[in-house]
Amino acid sequence: MRIVGICGSPKSDKSSTRYLLEQALEAAAESLSDKDETVLLNIRDYNILHCTGCDSCVRRKPCPQSVNDDMPKLEKELINTDGIIIAAPSYFTSVPGILKDFIDRSRHMKMNGSKLRDTIFGAITHAGLKYGGQEHVIDVLNRYALGQGMIVVGSAGSPVKDGNFGSGSLQTDDGNWRMVKDDELAIRGSRLIGKRVAEVASRISPGE
Ligand SMILES: Cc1cc2nc3c(=O)[nH]c(=O)nc-3n(C[C@H](O)[C@H](O)[C@H](O)COP(=O)(O)O)c2cc1C
Repeated sequence: MRIVGICGSPKSDKSSTRYLLEQALEAAAESLSDKDETVLLNIRDYNILHCTGCDSCVRRKPCPQSVNDDMPKLEKELINTDGIIIAAPSYFTSVPGILKDFIDRSRHMKMNGSKLRDTIFGAITHAGLKYGGQEHVIDVLNRYALGQGMIVVGSAGSPVKDGNFGSGSLQTDDGNWRMVKDDELAIRGSRLIGKRVAEVASRISPGE
């Protein structure tokens, strides 16, 4: 069993999004056995060129951009993985460009045998403002996963206390600012996503 988390923040350190993803992967690991693996990949560590729209992937030909960048490395990490969690900060209520480049370029995996099909998927987001586009970012990520044939799961926590995904903000209810480590609901939601991805992945691939 292998669960991969992708952090979509371009920040090198002090990424709030990465902190929430770490929480999710920690919770996933707690639901798995010792021989299972959780891996965190930072999208910023990979050189991913833009999709040029050449449609080589539709014709099942190699992507010309993959000759010059790290996309094959990233694809290798994701193919045959049981669960994927993508965490993205809200950038104008959508995902940062470096993550969108990955999303667009991953069309090659879809066009060449739906390689991410049936992978369990969960989404996490973090924004500056309390109402900073979190639901839109989650929607972008979940629709991406559906497009890849992945199986999207929500947090499935308490029906009266928890939202459906991992989501936080720097801004507090009274308009002040906080560190992500002080955002209890965001941590709880992210951990629930990690746990849920691990649990459903274990059910789909029992005994792996
Ligand atoms: C280009 C850019 C666009 C942003 N757009 C939004 C936005 O639409 N709404 C919002 O609440 N915060 C926005 N932010 C703030 C980030 O979402 C926020 O700082 C988040 O915590 C960053 O996460 P990170 O530390 O993981 O990178 C934006 C930040 C940048 C750099």
